[in-house]
Amino acid sequence: MARRLNVNGQVRSFDAEPDTPLLWVLREQLGLTGTKYGCGIAACGACTVHIDGVPTRSCVRPVSSVDAKAKVVTIEGLSRDGSHPVQKAWVALDVPQCGYCQCGMVMAAAALLRDKPQPTDADIDAAMTNICRCGTYNRVRAAIKAVAAGNTRNAGLDIRHADGSVA
Ligand code: FES
Ligand code: FES
Repeated sequence: MARRLNVNGQVRSFDAEPDTPLLWVLREQLGLTGTKYGCGIAACGACTVHIDGVPTRSCVRPVSSVDAKAKVVTIEGLSRDGSHPVQKAWVALDVPQCGYCQCGMVMAAAALLRDKPQPTDADIDAAMTNICRCGTYNRVRAAIKAVAAGNTRNAGLDIRHADGSVA
């Protein structure tokens, strides 16, 4: 049965069984391959996207449970040109190694900094539970702190959708 999702500001149609994980609809039907599969059991965070602003592990989220009006944002929708402050900090500090986990890391960090522009170490520990086999944890933390040092809530951390709304 054809269904719809609002992804990165666009209404997209897809056809999948109700229990299909959101991750596979994003990757295989909508061509949004920035969101990665790591574990499939909500443990690693490689598949993190935002649903109405909430960082969500899409590998365990049945697509039928995502309301058609909910705003799904993937790494491709975080900014049009890599200009989101988290993306800039990631580049400036050379955070990625192999890169596989990094889209999920960036999405988790973007939500953290939007909600807590000056996160404490405890805040970072609580929000950044993503797993990185390359061990980039120290640089992830440094990049989050770099964003926090240079930004306030209104300095570009909100995600602007194509329809003009902000999440
Ligand atoms: S693939 Fe979803 S948490 Fe690992
Ligand atoms: S950068 Fe390689 S798994 Fe994280």
